[in-house]
Order: sequence, then C-alpha cells, then structure tokens
Amino acid sequence: MHKAYMSIKIALLLMMLIPLSQASTAVNTQIHELAYSVNKAKLPIEDTYVVAHRGASGYAPENTLEAFALAKKMEADFIELDIQRTKDGTLIVLHDKLVDRTTNGEGKVKDLSLHDIQQLDAGSWFNEKYPKYAKKEYVGAKVPTLEQVFETFGNSIQYIIELKSPHLYPKMEMELLNLLEKYQIEDDHIIIQSFDEKCLVNIHKQNANIPLFQLLKRPNTDEQQLKLIKKYAVGVGPNFKRINEDYVRKAKSFQLYIHPYTLNDEFEIETALNWGVSGIITNYPDKVKRKLSDKK
Ligand code: G3P
Ligand code: CA
Repeated sequence: MHKAYMSIKIALLLMMLIPLSQASTAVNTQIHELAYSVNKAKLPIEDTYVVAHRGASGYAPENTLEAFALAKKMEADFIELDIQRTKDGTLIVLHDKLVDRTTNGEGKVKDLSLHDIQQLDAGSWFNEKYPKYAKKEYVGAKVPTLEQVFETFGNSIQYIIELKSPHLYPKMEMELLNLLEKYQIEDDHIIIQSFDEKCLVNIHKQNANIPLFQLLKRPNTDEQQLKLIKKYAVGVGPNFKRINEDYVRKAKSFQLYIHPYTLNDEFEIETALNWGVSGIITNYPDKVKRKLSDKK
C-alpha cells in the first residue's frame, strides 16, 4: 500500500517536472542561437553602483514618485522599479501582483482599471508601518504609471526596470520598448531586468542595444548558467543570500555586472563591497553612498 502510494507520488512529480524541463530546454536552445554580442553597457565594470531599490524605499513609500525623487536627491546611480499591467493595458509601477500590501485597495492589478488604481492611496501604509520616516505628504501618494515616471524624470536619472510576472501580461516587454522609444530614454539610461529569461531573450532579439540583467533567486554555482546568460545579458542580479566571493569573481570573469539584491544591513553591504560587486541594490542609497566614500 505504502509502496503504491510512493510510486503514484513519484509519477506525479515526474509529470510535473517534464513540461518544466522541456520549457527550459526551449529557452536554452534560443539562447544558444544568440551571438556573443553583448556588453554594450558603457559603465566601467570595476566601479560600484548604488541602486535605489523601488526608489529610496527605506524612507518613502516604495515605487512612488516620492521615493524616486528622494533617490535622485541622494544621488543613487540607478533607480530600480517594478512594472505590472492594468486590466485596460497600462503599465504601472507596483511590485506585487495585488494592490493590497502597498495601497488601501484590494485585488489583482490585472483585474483593475487604471482609473480604479489611480484612486488608491499608496502612501499611508508606509506612514503606519514606518512611523520613524512618516511624512504628511506621503498620505494619498499615487501608484504612478510608467509614463508618469518618464514624464517626470526623463533622462535625468538612470533606470533599472524590472518586468514583474511577464507570463501574466503577454507582450508587456514590447510595450515597455515602445515607451522607451516614445520618451526617448537613452540606451545608457536604462537596464531591463527580470527573473523571466524568456522575456529577456525576447527583448534582446528585438533590440540588442538595451542592457539586460538576469535576476536569479537561486544562482547556479557552476559556470554554465553564467555562460548562457552572457549571450543575451550584460549582468546578473542574484539573491545575496545565495552567493559568495567566488561567485562574484566568476560573474566578473565573464565581464558580467553583478548587482546582488537586496542589501540593507551594514554588515551585508560591507561584505558585498569587499567581494567586489559592481552594484548594491538597497532601500537606503544614502547608507551605501556613505560606505563607499568612507572606503575611498
Ligand atoms: O533588483 C532585484 C530585486 O528588485 C528583485 O526582487 O522582489 O524586490 O523585486 P524584488
Ligand atoms: Ca524589483
């Protein structure tokens, strides 16, 4: 009885794994067909860039114009933001698939219209959760559209835009490329990143001039993964908890930028800097800037 149950369990597991491995083989084949054509990012790989994660999100509500303005004031090198798409097809700046955590509303972005989302308060939750950094002006902060961000900041900042859940929003990457063109965001002011390699490969095929970063929840320590990534991306964004100095060295030996996420703790920041990472993704860009200038 127990044996039979185990065999059914194994069979079910295999059924679940096979389609996954087939999908990943398909993407790998596409990647193999790409030329080793990237490293067009013009920033020296030996420098260390400060990336404001969802804006200066330690001090202001994440992914709002307020958080981005503060990150700019703190002179972060890049501002990272996440995009999703509304029911009526507008790209908006929000981290989660649901509006619940960071607004006073409820529901999935894909089921809400832009009008619905623009009624929401995306700032009060921050004041309640982080009273130390609460500000009156955060009450009623809006969820920005990506267009509003480009209208506000244009080429005055450098962006790292993360495509969130592209499987939920078919062709969202093409809509992003159209907006970059519409607002004439220069190629050296933009990096696009995602955990979804398929969507990055699509972008690379459309426009090989846009620098791409592959995000990695569980980076592989062997070199094969980095070798494949190098075919379409200029950098990697691994989970800091799952890398070590040797991984940083390997990534850089492929001339890949390496921006681990998300470092807010002094000790982690210090460790990553000592490993020689090319960027630090942080909610506190001022802290990292200070550490960098202390080291000079
Ligand atoms: O830049 C990497 C980081 O933003 C990925 O994680 O969940 O904060 O979007 P998450
Ligand atoms: Ca992100």
